[in-house]
Amino acid sequence: MELYLDTAVMEEIREIASWGILSGVTTNPSLLAKAGVSVADFMKGIESLIPGPLSLEVTAEDAETMVAQGLKLREYGENVVIKLPLTAEGLKACGRLKEKGIPANLTLVFSANQALLAARAGAAYVSPFIGRLNDNGAEGALLIQEIRAIFDRYGLKTKIIAASVRSPRDVTEAALGGADIATIPYAVMKKMVAHPLTDDGLRRFRTDWENSGLSL
Ligand code: G3P
Repeated sequence: MELYLDTAVMEEIREIASWGILSGVTTNPSLLAKAGVSVADFMKGIESLIPGPLSLEVTAEDAETMVAQGLKLREYGENVVIKLPLTAEGLKACGRLKEKGIPANLTLVFSANQALLAARAGAAYVSPFIGRLNDNGAEGALLIQEIRAIFDRYGLKTKIIAASVRSPRDVTEAALGGADIATIPYAVMKKMVAHPLTDDGLRRFRTDWENSGLSL
């Protein structure tokens, strides 16, 4: 499973990209609003930092304006994927962008049927929101498994991005469920790398080595 960063903060991208584990980035209007940056500002100098696809989301809710916004966002780079809401209008926009050779990521997906519709509309990516489902008493991990089973059974090539990730456990469950990608907030990435036994083990190695008087 590939790992994307879900953020609109350049410093976070810079730090996580430096680990050498990042395959792409996703963002959304809420993340941009929280960071206080326009898409234009966010895109300044970003290309060199992102090793793969970058999902930028439209804000329109009708297909025609979604396509117009998608074309504008795509001007930022060949790696830009247009994020569209999973609505009837989003499906229409997805097909029209595909005809122009522009990939779409269908977002706000909460059911396997919505994911199937996205795949049939020609979406390159589909983003089930596992955290928001879990918040509402449903099982996000199960949705990933269902979408994986359907896509595999019918040979659908749309990639599954596990989104709305809240914890390291969500990432593990997405991987076990067969997601192609998990898009992960910075704070969760930081938790994924850390383990108290790693810190403890490192401390012990350091102490034993320092006490030994040996050198490499
Ligand atoms: O980018 C979409 C998704 O990751 C949003 O997550 O935490 O707002 O449910 P969240």
